[in-house]
Amino acid sequence: SAPVELDRDVVVIGAGISGLVTARRLVEAGHTVAVLEARDRVGGRTWSQEIDGSFFEIGGQWVSSDQDALKALLAELGKETFPRYRDGNSVYVARDGDRREFRGAFPVASSTLEEIDRLVAALDALAAEMDVDAPWAHPRAGELDSIQFSSWLASLSDDEEARRIVDHYIAAGMLTKRSHTFSVLQAMLMVASAETFENLIDEGILLDARVVGGMQSVSEQIAAELGDAVFLGAPVRRLSWGPSSVVALADGVTVRARFAVVAVPPPLYSRISYEPALPRLRQIAHQHQSMGLVIKAQAAYDRPFWRSAGLSGTGFASHEVVCEVYDNTSPHEERGMLVGFVVSERAEEMWALPAEDRKRAILESFAAYFGPEALAPAAFLLADWGSEEWTRGAYASSYELGGLSRWGHVQNEPVGPIYFASSDIQGAGYMHVDGGVRIGDATATRIAERLTADA
Ligand code: FDA
Repeated sequence: SAPVELDRDVVVIGAGISGLVTARRLVEAGHTVAVLEARDRVGGRTWSQEIDGSFFEIGGQWVSSDQDALKALLAELGKETFPRYRDGNSVYVARDGDRREFRGAFPVASSTLEEIDRLVAALDALAAEMDVDAPWAHPRAGELDSIQFSSWLASLSDDEEARRIVDHYIAAGMLTKRSHTFSVLQAMLMVASAETFENLIDEGILLDARVVGGMQSVSEQIAAELGDAVFLGAPVRRLSWGPSSVVALADGVTVRARFAVVAVPPPLYSRISYEPALPRLRQIAHQHQSMGLVIKAQAAYDRPFWRSAGLSGTGFASHEVVCEVYDNTSPHEERGMLVGFVVSERAEEMWALPAEDRKRAILESFAAYFGPEALAPAAFLLADWGSEEWTRGAYASSYELGGLSRWGHVQNEPVGPIYFASSDIQGAGYMHVDGGVRIGDATATRIAERLTADA
């Protein structure tokens, strides 16, 4: 069919939460939009599917109890949430294989707990000095951005287990990169994005609740309300721009607009050809943000068998294939579900195995926490974001060592009529759906001000 040609105030590229919230707010302010999405679905890194009789959330799913922007959006859309199951004991498997059940503090030596507190206090103190919207403006930004997070921990403590636990929370738990590849400044941003280390790592806060119907349904509802402004299967190939207009050329659709919002993760910016090319500093800066890698592994069982054993389904073991695990049962299902994470090199090792060996290795790891019943799930899914052309990793992107202080200052600035919006370049809520909501709100406000000034 003939390509569609449209004139709109704003063209939004990408129908993840960041792009959709931007579009929603612009429409509310009386402006016209078109949203161009590469995939045949909306939601980006949030996605759910029914597979082998179980409901799986493949991407982002949890709502932290302090994520106010996301919570306000959920209320606005009339979406309900349900709490994560967390009654009973958690499991910690130590490096020597010793399996310990616990509640509250980690079952490690009290001296190690004290070391953990000391390291966390040091990180919290640094994060408290940071303007979360401008990490590069910290007076010691350059210096802190030149120190590997792993070296910094080693310089502060001789307690190997304490270091490993703190390292794990930021590296494996959040950035999904090894801690020698990112800086103290990047770790500080991660902490400051949730205000405190506690908010970031306490699973009672961070993994508080899920959305009834799945997190993707938030994007689906916004897209449904935007109606025929959303185009699926429309990857934007070229973005021509001048001082006060853009033309976005997607497969099957061309949109002429006053402004563009590139609402894709930074590592994908260069999938679009800009005409003229973006300024040199951007072209350089955009090469220094990269995606982490994690496999979200989920196994559904006829019943949540761990609960009758007095277990919450929560477990940690930084040396295991699956380094953290949680109960991920949906309240509308009889089956119980476990979700676990396999991070960075471990994820690469797993993808290198034949599928059956990979499944066995991951289920054996679940069994290390919860016993042999974990070996025989009724449904099983590994989320493979690394091979998704329009994402290319998980959970999100971060700067390489030294990048945040050097190039971060350009990431939120428009280039002429082109704005950038993603959870990966947002301060509060960085790398989370909440961050996508926040940057969507903020980007729409910035553009609406300029549209009003034009009029
Ligand atoms: P996102 O990547 O979602 O959207 C970008 C969109 O642009 C995509 O739809 C893509 O297809 C499209 N696109 C790309 N290039 C294009 C082009 N050239 N033309 C047109 N369209 C293009 N967060 C959280 O709060 N709680 C959680 O529990 C988790 N857990 C989690 C698990 C896993 C496995 C992942 C992968 C991620 C999470 N996250 C999370 C992170 C969270 O999902 C993420 O931060 C946001 O969904 C990102 O939303 P954005 O809209 O910024 O990008």
